[in-house]
Amino acid sequence: MARLVSGEETNEDVFEVSIRPDTLDEYIGQSELKENLSIFMKAAKMRGETLDHVLLYGPPGLGKTTMAYIIANEMGSNIKTTSGPAIEKSGDLAAVLSTLEPGDVLFIDEIHRIPRFIEEILYSAMEDFKLDIIVGSDASSRNITIDLPPFTLVGATTRAGDLTGPLRDRFGIVSRLNFYTEDELKQIVLRTSRVLKSPISEEAALELAKRSRGTPRIANRLFKRVRDYALVMGDGNIDLEITKLALDKLKVDAFGLDATDYNLLNSIIEKFNGGPVGIDALASSIGEEASTIEDVYEPYLLQNGFLKRTSRGRMVTEKAYRYLKKSRQDTLF
Ligand SMILES: Nc1ncnc2c1ncn2[C@@H]1O[C@H](COP(=O)(O)OP(=O)(O)O)[C@@H](O)[C@H]1O
Ligand SMILES: [Mg+2]
Repeated sequence: MARLVSGEETNEDVFEVSIRPDTLDEYIGQSELKENLSIFMKAAKMRGETLDHVLLYGPPGLGKTTMAYIIANEMGSNIKTTSGPAIEKSGDLAAVLSTLEPGDVLFIDEIHRIPRFIEEILYSAMEDFKLDIIVGSDASSRNITIDLPPFTLVGATTRAGDLTGPLRDRFGIVSRLNFYTEDELKQIVLRTSRVLKSPISEEAALELAKRSRGTPRIANRLFKRVRDYALVMGDGNIDLEITKLALDKLKVDAFGLDATDYNLLNSIIEKFNGGPVGIDALASSIGEEASTIEDVYEPYLLQNGFLKRTSRGRMVTEKAYRYLKKSRQDTLF
């Protein structure tokens, strides 16, 4: 079964489309990003130009895709979308670029996964709106340059560190999305409740917010599950009692930690004496990909002080020991 409290997108999240905010005003939180974008978008419109290229990075589920659509909407542009993994040959990227029309937003999700040798095509496309391609094969091959209309590239990535310097430098606006506060998540839950016409009490919305790991996608997903419990076991109204009951049954604890988090923290404590442990050793001890730990599980644990990153690897903190009710093994005596 897919992990309930992972920020990663699953098929079930298609209902997200209906609850996705489509204007900057409706987008809750990330105030710095919103303020900056709102100024840059106004300025671009006043000058009659396209918005500078935008790179959004941060853990899954924090609103990167949503923001890309909002940018297009606010600029009155069409959006074309693709993703790093979908671009395998240079022709794949050239095909997307050559369909662009003036002012379009091109959204490239997981942009860090574009192969390096293809990435170079983006450099001149972004900088000079030119597409350099090689046509023909072997001896008869030659370079041709095609003019592209002005467009805005919006790139999203969970791993900004994986982007090459030259690509990163070509984005005029680079912004990291942060985990949301409890209050912001509560606003998001209340908004979702209004859109889906499923009433929820203020306390219940706050409880969901607390257990959503700072992530709107998780808040919305938990909302949906709790709504099911309320419908089947109650009268459809989502109150604090049914919310707590549902979340306990779903095994999402008061901090939003689930079995995978427990497993991760417990293995550092039990198998590595609290750490430090290298990411690869940790990954194989819990049977996860190192990159999944880095992108999905660990950011929230780091942010909330359960885990520490040191030059020698990951370490569990005192807070985690206390929270998991474990005592530190004294290895010296
Ligand atoms: N700032 C926000 N305000 C309201 N809802 C949000 C916000 N950010 C994200 N969401 C909700 O969370 C869901 C996941 O966001 P998404 O943009 O797909 O995340 P990402 O692309 O970063 O993985 C969206 O469908 C949207 O409903
Ligand atoms: Mg996304």
